[in-house]
Amino acid sequence: MPAVDTRPPFAAIGGRVPGEWAALPTPCYLLDEGALARNGKILGDLAARTGCKVLLAQKAFSNYDLYPILAPYLAGTEASGLYEARLGAEEMPGKEVHVFCAAYRDDEMAELLRWADHIVFNSPAQLARFGPAAKAAGKSVGLRVNPECSTQEGHAIYDPCAPGSRLGTTRAQWDAAVAQNPALPQLLDGLHFHTLCEQDSDALAVTLDAVAAKFGDLLPAMKWLNMGGGHHITRSGYDVATLERCIARAQRDWDVTVYLEPGEACALNAGFLLTRVLDVVHNGDTTVAILDASAACHMPDVIEMPYRPPLLFAADAGEKPCTVRLAGPTCLAGDVIGDYSFDAEPQPGDLLVFGDMAIYTTCKNNTFNGMPLPAILARAADGSCRVLKEFGYRDFKVRLGH
Ligand SMILES: Cc1ncc(COP(=O)(O)O)c(C=O)c1O
Repeated sequence: MPAVDTRPPFAAIGGRVPGEWAALPTPCYLLDEGALARNGKILGDLAARTGCKVLLAQKAFSNYDLYPILAPYLAGTEASGLYEARLGAEEMPGKEVHVFCAAYRDDEMAELLRWADHIVFNSPAQLARFGPAAKAAGKSVGLRVNPECSTQEGHAIYDPCAPGSRLGTTRAQWDAAVAQNPALPQLLDGLHFHTLCEQDSDALAVTLDAVAAKFGDLLPAMKWLNMGGGHHITRSGYDVATLERCIARAQRDWDVTVYLEPGEACALNAGFLLTRVLDVVHNGDTTVAILDASAACHMPDVIEMPYRPPLLFAADAGEKPCTVRLAGPTCLAGDVIGDYSFDAEPQPGDLLVFGDMAIYTTCKNNTFNGMPLPAILARAADGSCRVLKEFGYRDFKVRLGH
């Protein structure tokens, strides 16, 4: 076993398991305040240098106890609907609240107008339906556009520009809607696009060209352009200079305020999932370690995206002497985190530390099979850990009945 694991997801703990972690309950999520602050500073410095505004996309990270760490660097929050909009308004007070939803409901609009400052609509029909009320309430109104420019191959599940996508208005859809309702453009204060996922700024530059080609004639009349999320700005090696050129281009060509709404970049490599081995079984050539954490329940992106979380001191299958399949304890045959290799076979009771577990985890987990929700802890800059939230049987039961 190497003395130190130097990969970025483990930088916050110096590539070692801190001794006091042996006493922590498992499974638990451990959110690293120092790493969050470092991400915040990178984003805040970008905003200061360029004049763009950066929002936290709460769908990726909504552990609001730690919003005060990010808030000084951000212009506000981005929400996917009513509840996240309210959370942002309540927990990052005094900052902007932006919301985008693929379709809003009639019965939520009045309350949404209470919490949100910017409301982005997905279709001309939704814009026509709710835009006038939003404008009358003094809100900034936007339309999500689809530049029909895929910059990722083979990942249709997270490509909003995939053929037949429901996300964003294409130019053809817009032109058809305006032909029917010529007053539509007057409702708009801004345009929004979100097409990237964990990408570098070269993909943004290509996308911005497509936005300019398809919607450039609309942009001079806009106050703002929101470039969505998916910018991996805080990843080491990310090309910040190209991002800055994209921002400057939008500011210069269309005189708009540029918004970015990253989720991952805000909390990248800022959390861990601690889990213990419960059992090790051998089936033919396959060794399986069953953990007290579940892919299906506690890191659903492992199955949905699919995503392979980094594991401290472990390598890809076959790289080290002992390859082991790590799996959860639920009934789902596919509750598998992945095949990892170790210097020696993990034993029941061993502590395993997954990295980059602050994003799309605590806000996405579930209690399938009656699995307990992991406690959420915070790790302060001095290394001390405190419990933010523990869960029990009641949290499982309360969602299922009276
Ligand atoms: C509209 C919108 N904005 C922002 C984000 C945040 O993306 P990421 O966490 O990849 O930065 C998403 C993610 O799906 C999104 O759909």
